Amino acid sequence: MSNDTMRAVVWDKPYKVSIQQVPKPKLSHPDDIIVKVTTTCICGSDLHMYEGRTGAESGIVFGHENMGIVDELGPGVTLLKKGDRVVMPFNVACGRCLNCEEGRSAFCTHVNPGFVRCATSYVSMGPYQGGQAEYVKVPFADFNALKLPPGKEHEADFALLADIFPTGWHGVEISGFRPGESVAVWGAGPVGIMAAYSAILRGASQVFVVDRVPERLKKAKEIGCIPIDFSKSDPVKQILDYRGGKEVDRGVDAVGYQATTADGKTEQPNVVLEALISVVRPTGGLGIPGLYVPSDPGAADQNAQKGYMSFPFGKFFEKGLSMGTGQCNVKAYNRYLRDLIVAGRAKPSFVVSHEVSLDDAADAYDKFDRRVDGYTKVLLHP
Ligand SMILES: NC(=O)c1ccc[n+]([C@@H]2O[C@H](COP(=O)([O-])OP(=O)(O)OC[C@H]3O[C@@H](n4cnc5c(N)ncnc54)[C@H](O)[C@@H]3O)[C@@H](O)[C@H]2O)c1
Ligand SMILES: [Zn+2]
Ligand SMILES: [Zn+2]
Repeated sequence: MSNDTMRAVVWDKPYKVSIQQVPKPKLSHPDDIIVKVTTTCICGSDLHMYEGRTGAESGIVFGHENMGIVDELGPGVTLLKKGDRVVMPFNVACGRCLNCEEGRSAFCTHVNPGFVRCATSYVSMGPYQGGQAEYVKVPFADFNALKLPPGKEHEADFALLADIFPTGWHGVEISGFRPGESVAVWGAGPVGIMAAYSAILRGASQVFVVDRVPERLKKAKEIGCIPIDFSKSDPVKQILDYRGGKEVDRGVDAVGYQATTADGKTEQPNVVLEALISVVRPTGGLGIPGLYVPSDPGAADQNAQKGYMSFPFGKFFEKGLSMGTGQCNVKAYNRYLRDLIVAGRAKPSFVVSHEVSLDDAADAYDKFDRRVDGYTKVLLHP
């Protein structure tokens, strides 16, 4: 094995990844750093690519939730030094365009000129190699790398700052949530659980979590939420019955376009939007961190292939609802969420179900994709 290659998780074809030797990343811009990865997570968003439901091309290295130790620095990097422990937002941003300046780093127009989605190895990719590997290159490193306390403490909690903890928080934020309100979260995957946890941290009076996977509903219950199993009966009716007919103040869609029918067998991309419009009170708000795509070659019908979605806009209008959408501006939240972890007020790692070696990634992808054996959130250690 030469010093110029490293082990990485490579996507071969739908439902197949393998560990391969790939070129080790090199500094190519003064603002770059190379990070030796200590923890990298598998994400629900990786599964859209894993299943071949995006434009991803075979041979790419997966991994957009990365943390590790700064190993090499370009001459333009001023805030970091070799040996610093850092975690990176899943979406790469330049830190200097209009959206970055205004705190909306998920919509950086510089690294993302055509406004296709851009992140380290995230859906339509961008030019960056993923971090499910021994090393990862981080561009605009002063902006993108968040410094962490040295040592090994809180490793799993900090790893979740790359995506799901901020994304759950963001889902609650863009719903317009205020302390004391009630929230219904659709989806008890890692993002949904983190949204529910954020709502609790932020002072929600009541939080419902809807899913059909028992282990996931159990996690929701453990943090004080009311689990709703949508495989049993209409989840909207279950929530309204629980509340004596009263709707909730806020709804969060942490499922996205691969939402399924109650038996989990058929995709129904509009089902969550429709449910949220009926379960949220007039003038309440919907936060939609769940992913919707402008084109989905794998979709069942022509409209869905173009990213068109049918939902009751008339009802939405009649109720005066508002809706927040889009990728999470990780940079807007991650240092505060880091500080909540350091202070002992937040411990998001309760959502982590498995920590395995990078070499076991293929098996972990398979099980996580089938949502079996309690695979909720998987951390890989290179
Ligand atoms: N906005 C962002 O920045 C951002 C970041 C990360 C992930 N995401 C997206 O968030 C979504 C959730 O991510 P995740 O990692 O938790 O995914 P996941 O696939 O692990 O979880 C989704 C959950 O939704 C459940 N589900 C399916 N259909 C449902 C329905 N009709 N009603 C209720 N629950 C249903 C599934 O059983 C599953 O547990 C994905 O679409 C992901 O791409 C967005
Ligand atoms: Zn992710
Ligand atoms: Zn930018």
